[in-house]
Amino acid sequence: MAPQHTPPLLFFFFCALLSLFPSLSSAAYNVSYDRRSLIIDGRRELLISAAIHYPRSVPAMWPGLVQLAKEGGINTIETYVFWNGHELSPDNYYFGGRYDLVRFCKIVQEAGLYLILRIGPFVAAEWNFGGVPVWLHYVPGTVFRTDNEPFKYYMKKFMTLIVEKMKQEKLFASQGGPIILSQVENEYGFYESAYGEAGKRYTKWAANMSVSQNTGVPWIMCQQFDPPDTVIDTCNSFYCDHFKPISPNKPKFWTENWPGWFKTFGASDPHRPPEDVAFSVARFFQKGGSLQNYYMYHGGTNFGRTAGGPFITTSYDYDAPIDEYGLARCPKWGHLKELHRSIKLCEHALLNGKPKTLSLGPLQEVDVYEEPSGACSAIISNTDDKNGATVVFKNTTYYLPAWSVSILPDCKNVVFNTAKVGSQTSVVEMIPTDLHPSATTPYKDFKGPQWDVFRERAGIWDAADFTKNGLVDHINTTKDTTDYLWYTTSFLLDETDESFRNGKSPMILVESKGHAMHVFINQKLEVTGSGNGTVPRFKIRLPITLKAGKNEIALLSMAVGLQNAGAFYEWVGAGPTSVKIVGIKNGTLDLSTIKWTYKIGLRGESLKIYEPNNTNRVNWESTLRPSKHQPLTWYKAVVDSPPGQEPVGLDMIHMGKGLAWLNGNEVGRYWPRKASPHEICVQQCDYRGKFMPNKCNTGCGEATQRWYHVPRSWFKPSGNVLVIFEEKGGDPSKIRFSTRKVSSLCAHIAEDHPSFDMEHLQISSMEEYKKKATVSLKCPASTKISAVKFASFGDPVGSCGTYAVGGCHDPNSVSVVQKVCLNKEECELELSHESFDVNSCPNVAKRLAVEVLCS
Ligand SMILES: *[C@@H]1O[C@H](CO)[C@@H](O)[C@H](O)[C@H]1NC(C)=O
Ligand SMILES: *[C@@H]1O[C@H](CO)[C@@H](O)[C@H](O)[C@H]1NC(C)=O
Ligand SMILES: *[C@@H]1O[C@H](CO)[C@@H](O)[C@H](O)[C@H]1NC(C)=O
Ligand SMILES: *[C@@H]1O[C@H](CO)[C@@H](O)[C@H](O)[C@H]1NC(C)=O
Ligand SMILES: *[C@@H]1O[C@H](CO)[C@@H](O)[C@H](O)[C@H]1NC(C)=O
Ligand SMILES: *[C@@H]1O[C@H](CO)[C@@H](O)[C@H](O)[C@H]1NC(C)=O
Ligand SMILES: *[C@@H]1O[C@H](CO)[C@@H](O)[C@H](O)[C@H]1NC(C)=O
Repeated sequence: MAPQHTPPLLFFFFCALLSLFPSLSSAAYNVSYDRRSLIIDGRRELLISAAIHYPRSVPAMWPGLVQLAKEGGINTIETYVFWNGHELSPDNYYFGGRYDLVRFCKIVQEAGLYLILRIGPFVAAEWNFGGVPVWLHYVPGTVFRTDNEPFKYYMKKFMTLIVEKMKQEKLFASQGGPIILSQVENEYGFYESAYGEAGKRYTKWAANMSVSQNTGVPWIMCQQFDPPDTVIDTCNSFYCDHFKPISPNKPKFWTENWPGWFKTFGASDPHRPPEDVAFSVARFFQKGGSLQNYYMYHGGTNFGRTAGGPFITTSYDYDAPIDEYGLARCPKWGHLKELHRSIKLCEHALLNGKPKTLSLGPLQEVDVYEEPSGACSAIISNTDDKNGATVVFKNTTYYLPAWSVSILPDCKNVVFNTAKVGSQTSVVEMIPTDLHPSATTPYKDFKGPQWDVFRERAGIWDAADFTKNGLVDHINTTKDTTDYLWYTTSFLLDETDESFRNGKSPMILVESKGHAMHVFINQKLEVTGSGNGTVPRFKIRLPITLKAGKNEIALLSMAVGLQNAGAFYEWVGAGPTSVKIVGIKNGTLDLSTIKWTYKIGLRGESLKIYEPNNTNRVNWESTLRPSKHQPLTWYKAVVDSPPGQEPVGLDMIHMGKGLAWLNGNEVGRYWPRKASPHEICVQQCDYRGKFMPNKCNTGCGEATQRWYHVPRSWFKPSGNVLVIFEEKGGDPSKIRFSTRKVSSLCAHIAEDHPSFDMEHLQISSMEEYKKKATVSLKCPASTKISAVKFASFGDPVGSCGTYAVGGCHDPNSVSVVQKVCLNKEECELELSHESFDVNSCPNVAKRLAVEVLCS
């Protein structure tokens, strides 16, 4: 294992917590289950799991991500296995770099966490082709995910290879390793019926084949509606409180709780409020669940061309508790951390107590778990999506805000309510930094870098690949070796054709199955067309300029991620199906069936000029001021690493569409395509009520993705080779790096906020519970609280960044906070008599709002 470099920022929440579960010994342990839970070495365990997909970050980030999950109260990591990243062609395997699965598993093991390995090997996951290698589609006779011999042969071969690899490294629990569960297939229940009887046979075969691998740990199948009894069926949804496994002797597991949603180029940005994520988790454990996995806990990045689709963005941030760049997303991360602590306090009673449900009102209920010893935990819910409710339980009155759940580890004291967010909010900004040319440049005084420019020709370069009458399918032709396929043809326009003489404009009409296309006529870019994440197909209809004589048409058809799910998804094609010229003398000229000449990919791609060692394979032109809006252009600059340690994004807002690399590492597709201003976005998200992916969107009318993550570990201090391929034209002089910084922290807490001191709270010593609201603030590593931007104890208004004093305000608020927090890395504020004037404005429910700066 290579020495690991971990960005220090990932550690800004020091792990001062006592571990909530025993660290794993390397002795073999027994994983079994019954209807209540997994039973690990005879002990029931409540599992709070975090999906972190290893190829969606880089090895240098893995230890930090796993630690940050652990600090967030996670005890299990979950990942898919990405077949098409591992088996590049039949029998040609790769387990290096971001695909070093064993290394990832060992990092999880060293952190003392369990691991759920969802082998699939079909995974969907908004990943290119759902994770199945594209070559398998071209093995004659193959149909994916059904009772089909070639598919089953290759699937079994790959699964066996992975299982054997895990066994060799002793990674299964039965060998003392972290893996406690494995998954076969993925959400097949939705599509099984499309495959008829063969689908049913395939399900049985998949379960049997997996169980026969003898891993010593149970197998799961998610969203499988006719699971064989040898596997556990699990739920994937925004809510799984009502889920029941098919068989009564299976435990209730939730493999995908979506804390946000993915994005597609050209659509707005979905967010799921932390109150609702916490609500769904608390409800699940209230109603008898015993394993819950956040999909995603860290979404990360679809580097290179790994994004599925079509149209999935390069960012796979997912509004997850850890953001794409590896920073805790606050308050979501912290709110869930408090939830996990609270749930864990109930673990023994939940898993070993006798459950009883009591109705406390029309939409209010409590689930009580009582053990013979008298130990008791209760979870009370109010599923009213509009109104708060006061309920009486065991002669005590409790108030629950609308759509919220309270947790009572001793059946008496509320330690957490899902709607009361007391953990800090951080404001994160992308701070632009100019590209700094590395020393070798002859232009020392110039601020920007020297750009080397290389232009591709529109159409065939070198020799054509083939010529054919009619339009071929894009995917079948490129077989995904590149996003790009040139379709070229030409036609003669009569000198006597009146249409372009008397100013009437002929038009081009294109119909395409997807995903996007640039139309070049006589080497000039005329128009771009594209579909979107909902409807990949599109039409182009645009006036064009033609000339008398020969006119050359070159269509650059593009894939933007292959289909990743659906019945028979591997047969979904792309590319133009009809090309016509209308409005010329002859009427309509249908080019769809004439002779076309084809070229797969770009010249620069085939020469791999994005790899530092290969850049000299073409002649670059050097310039300080590259021209703008120039299509089909490669740009290269040699730059220093941006200063500091913060994560880095490449700002491509002034570019068109294309691909980027740093030091030969593939950053991925960039496309600052804007979301329609007519989509529905919200200023403030109402967490109450059922969440849907389009409920709390932001970014209408803005670029879906402006910044592209470039991991710090890809940089050296200077001499970094940044290569961009721009398809349609942009302004390369405006390309910047941006560093991701926490600019301020906010906290907001009400007098009645449930709060407890973790170090002292034990179920047996619940008396020590202090009915006192506290809130803590913690700056990123090696920064301190440098200013108190706002503080008001009273009834402040607004939210983080826009707080203002309300009608009730303790004038000492700022000085109290300054005294406690200034120049500290972290501080804790208490809503007590000693600190604040709690007796003023007696009829007002008071709260404290604080915003501080860290530097
Ligand atoms: C594992 O535990 C289960 C239930 O406690 C038990 O039935 C089974 O025999 C155990 N298996 C092994 C290999 O010890
Ligand atoms: C798998 O199928 C074979 C052949 O039908 C059968 O003998 C075996 O018991 C099955 N194994 C499991 C684990 O279901
Ligand atoms: C609630 O109070 C009533 C009357 O004071 C008492 O009889 C009853 O036992 C109490 N119930 C519980 C669960 O404490
Ligand atoms: C996607 O394209 C379809 C058809 O053009 C359109 O109706 C729909 O509004 C588009 N969706 C988005 C999110 O832009
Ligand atoms: C090629 O693509 C079309 C879809 O456009 C599909 O119907 C056809 O079966 C494909 N052929 C192969 C071998 O995938
Ligand atoms: C237009 O029609 C004339 C006469 O039919 C034919 O000779 C010529 O090739 C046509 N031109 C095109 C561009 O199809
Ligand atoms: C690139 O060139 C350097 C220096 O010649 C060499 O050490 C390195 O292995 C080369 N890298 C690749 C990927 O070929």
